[in-house]
Amino acid sequence: MTLLAGALALASCANQATSDREMDRFIDDLMSRMTVEEKIGQLNLSGGDVPGVLSGAQGIDDLIRMGYLTATGWAGIDELTRLQKIAVEESRLGIPMLCGVDVIHGFYTVFPIPLALSCTWDPEFVEKTARVAAEEASANGISWTYSPMVDIARDARWGRIAEGSGEDPYLGSLFSAAMVRGYQGQDLSAENTIMACVKHFALYGASEAGRDYNTVDMSKLNMYNYYLEPYKSAFQAGAGSGMSSFNLVEGVPASGSHWLLTELLRDEWGFDGFVVSDYDAIGEMTAHGLGDTKTVSAQALKAGLDMDMMTLGYLKTLKESLDEGRVSEKDIDTACRRILEAKYKLGLFEDPYRYLNKERAEANTLTEEGLALAREAAAKSVVLLKNDSNILPFTKQGTIAVVGPLAGNTQDLLGMWSGSCDQKSATVVNAVREALGDNGKVLYAQGCNFSNSEMLARTSTSVCDPAQNSRLVREAVAVASRADKVIAVLGEPRSWSGEACSKADITLPEAQKELISALLATGKPVAFVICSGRPLVLEWEDARCPTLLEAWHGGSEAARGLVDVLFGDVNPSGRLTTTFPLRGGQIPIYYNYLNTGRPQNPDDHFTSKYLDCPNEPLYPFGYGLSYTNFEYSGLTLDRSSAKGDNGVIKASVTVTNTGSRSGEETVQMYIGDPAASISRPVRELRGFSKVTLAPGESATVSFDITTEQLSFYNSSLKKVWEPGLFNLYIGKNSSETLNTTFEWEE
Ligand code: BGC
Repeated sequence: MTLLAGALALASCANQATSDREMDRFIDDLMSRMTVEEKIGQLNLSGGDVPGVLSGAQGIDDLIRMGYLTATGWAGIDELTRLQKIAVEESRLGIPMLCGVDVIHGFYTVFPIPLALSCTWDPEFVEKTARVAAEEASANGISWTYSPMVDIARDARWGRIAEGSGEDPYLGSLFSAAMVRGYQGQDLSAENTIMACVKHFALYGASEAGRDYNTVDMSKLNMYNYYLEPYKSAFQAGAGSGMSSFNLVEGVPASGSHWLLTELLRDEWGFDGFVVSDYDAIGEMTAHGLGDTKTVSAQALKAGLDMDMMTLGYLKTLKESLDEGRVSEKDIDTACRRILEAKYKLGLFEDPYRYLNKERAEANTLTEEGLALAREAAAKSVVLLKNDSNILPFTKQGTIAVVGPLAGNTQDLLGMWSGSCDQKSATVVNAVREALGDNGKVLYAQGCNFSNSEMLARTSTSVCDPAQNSRLVREAVAVASRADKVIAVLGEPRSWSGEACSKADITLPEAQKELISALLATGKPVAFVICSGRPLVLEWEDARCPTLLEAWHGGSEAARGLVDVLFGDVNPSGRLTTTFPLRGGQIPIYYNYLNTGRPQNPDDHFTSKYLDCPNEPLYPFGYGLSYTNFEYSGLTLDRSSAKGDNGVIKASVTVTNTGSRSGEETVQMYIGDPAASISRPVRELRGFSKVTLAPGESATVSFDITTEQLSFYNSSLKKVWEPGLFNLYIGKNSSETLNTTFEWEE
């Protein structure tokens, strides 16, 4: 560090200390004037009438006037302004409210669902999408987003797999930190930044059998090595808040777990923001079997849960618990202070209306730049799963039939958590028309319904009528037979993924398979596009369809981004961040599994396998094709062994574009530790690098291996590396790699 840099760093520390002192003074003074009830009011995130608590209180206005509501949800900028005015001008102490909303993958400008965005393998890009979301949300009155959702998920039946970044802790950690940076920027008090909320803390993605809200039971070793890292990384990136999850953590609901919310989060990780419960998660502790509302509310507060979302347990019972000595005033003060600090850091005491500015809202909503980024994001998220005989990309000419239940539909392509958004997105049919212009003709047919199952049809806009389905299929075939080529857009409506949307069967419904079979029988070239909120089981489709693209739910510009890929304006570069099972019975299936004592061996019956299905997935983690080909050669190490904490081994590989188009490849490095003090995964992603290569071009891609990449939590939950032999794998996905070994000495 130069002298100047040192002086600047010192000055910035000193500035930070001064502003922390100013904040402390401000909050000390404010709290010295607050009644216990007002302090408890700061811990309450639930509006409406509160019978029995507020004598004479009627609805949200009175609640705010009395200082008993700490935050609102989305209500439109005029209503939010009115409510904030009541808080600031009519409550005794004028404490401003937060406005918390689920800005999960954009607000008005909707980006692809987080699972899709993670397939970019590009945290900096994802940070940009979060930045746009923050610009737009902050201009529309929102100061706080319930995002990022960083739950590791290994079970595609779970509907909320759509909301996270997949199954890998290393990638998940990069994305979680990137999103926090995108929302919060450099300065939380700037008017165009919003506070992040890391959720769902913790382990929510491990719900048994993929059924939402279900029990979680997990060893600490499993938590530390695979599940906790993305939360930790988001908190350490400076997230201002966290949200406790619905599930149990070692038998205790997360919202009442002192170990989780205090010992781990604050004492071990140093988090100093506040924690809000998930929606009524305190109240749900009663159904979990922990006692009545008063008991669980006291337990949650003492565990370190600062804000009660929707139970009203804090507002209704904490004063009584205080009088009975179940909680102390210090417990209440601590939670209240953390929330006031967040409001202070957001600049709300300085200007409570800083996020409520109609002109800024107009200028920052659905901007051209934001939509352009959304289009780029949609294209970058597409994963090309299959492209026999280079059927794709299509040329922009001739007659193209666009069919399928998602071909003429915009709402479903937005994905979950986009309900309140008034969108003017293109359908795939219209996007194809735009792309073709006068060079060709576009025909459309719905093709089929989402499903012939009554139970499923009830959850989507499409009807359940097998006879009508067959009629739709016949119409689509008639349209396809007049076309030179076909684009079929199939998959899930948005209502099949997200919260409370677990599915026991994640194959494409028969109604859609009927369309696929009929289209294949026409003999026309067909681009089969799957838009879904989860990895589906595509064994049947893979065996029949010469092309398959996973386009997820791609947001506002889903259709245009997809069409950019279909016509080759963008060469697909997405890579899977979740394993695609071959069959549902393999779930949970993930690439970083532990070996059994009897690894599968076709010559030995008594090994770990299924009688009726291979162990391998259909598409492995990290998989994705391009319109060009990449070949790997010459995996070399600059030395075959290293020593001690500071050793480094450089691994290099040559990647060559052997196809005829320029393209981007994601070079992936995995390490396996076959002999350690605990069983370690067969391989773990420890690095990746992107290269763009012109046809015929080669590049050498290198990775520095240090003890960081060898480290894991041992039985004492201590992060260690252990000397020995390691396996190194570098390649295009988690199962197609070049392999070598190296040694690390003590
Ligand atoms: C969800 C959270 C969400 C909250 C507030 C809950 O039901 O689990 O992810 O942030 O509602 O909308």
